[in-house]
Amino acid sequence: MSSRSKGREGKSGAARVGGKTPSPAGGESGGGGEPPASEALVKSPRFDKTDEASGGGVPAAPLLEARGLGKVFFSGGEELEILAGLDLLIAGGSSLAILGDSGSGKSTLLYILGALDRPSAGKVFFRSRDLFSLTGTQLARWRMTEIGFVFQFHHLLSEFSALENVAMPLRLSGVGADEALELARPLLERVGLKDRLHHRPGLLSGGEQQRVALARAVVMEPSVLLADEPTGNLDRKNAAMVNALILELVREKSLAAVVVTHNAELSALMDSRLVLRGGRLRPPD
Ligand SMILES: Nc1ncnc2c1ncn2[C@@H]1O[C@H](COP(=O)(O)OP(=O)(O)OP(=O)(O)O)[C@@H](O)[C@H]1O
Ligand SMILES: [Mg+2]
Repeated sequence: MSSRSKGREGKSGAARVGGKTPSPAGGESGGGGEPPASEALVKSPRFDKTDEASGGGVPAAPLLEARGLGKVFFSGGEELEILAGLDLLIAGGSSLAILGDSGSGKSTLLYILGALDRPSAGKVFFRSRDLFSLTGTQLARWRMTEIGFVFQFHHLLSEFSALENVAMPLRLSGVGADEALELARPLLERVGLKDRLHHRPGLLSGGEQQRVALARAVVMEPSVLLADEPTGNLDRKNAAMVNALILELVREKSLAAVVVTHNAELSALMDSRLVLRGGRLRPPD
């Protein structure tokens, strides 16, 4: 069995998301009892993953867990505390909308959950492994195989076609060129871009670019989709299309999804909603 079948039950008191069948499995309590970080986190991409959702009786233990996250920025001699002891549990296959005022720290939190930034305090666990105890190489590998990130501004590579952009994570993980393109193609078809495979990003509309970014985010079959205002830059019609696609892909692929959004329609469609305020996640008023 791969590491996907392993799970742990988080501590009480954290904002819990999903957890369709919470179970007191595991019995480990973090700290000194954790296995070596390198044991199971860093795997061959894509092909050695098992589908937890169809695993038959495997409990939906937290995939991703933040404990006591703090983040302090220093600017102009001032200390700015953005995250203040934030806890969060995210179960496989669950979806969470994160809401909050501009500047409340939503992007900061998402970057830390995706290991694009480090916390000033606290820990992030992925299947009970302490992420920030990994080496830089292991962390990069983890990000590549387990996390799909969608940014507000797509961040596609302008010199490459839509198809090449989607194939890029596969190429970077060692998949051959032809195979990568073949794997990328159906995903672009899936997001309605069958006739735009060879367009460069600059020739695509905003909504199309964001759909390419979404296809790229899921091409490695990650466990977690992290999306930072994925429709914040789109008109209503394109936002609705991208929203629907996010939800469909999350369900089809049993992804856990954490989506920062101001879009009421999208947040209403997620399993749960939390507001980031005062450096912690709280239920909406
Ligand atoms: N590298 C940094 N140095 C100093 N301050 C920073 C840094 N990054 C972010 N901040 C500050 O931290 C706060 C939170 O930023 P963040 O981008 O996480 O907010 P946000 O909730 O995503 O806001 P928005 O809804 O506008 O995207 C902001 O006040 C921002 O100015
Ligand atoms: Mg932001």
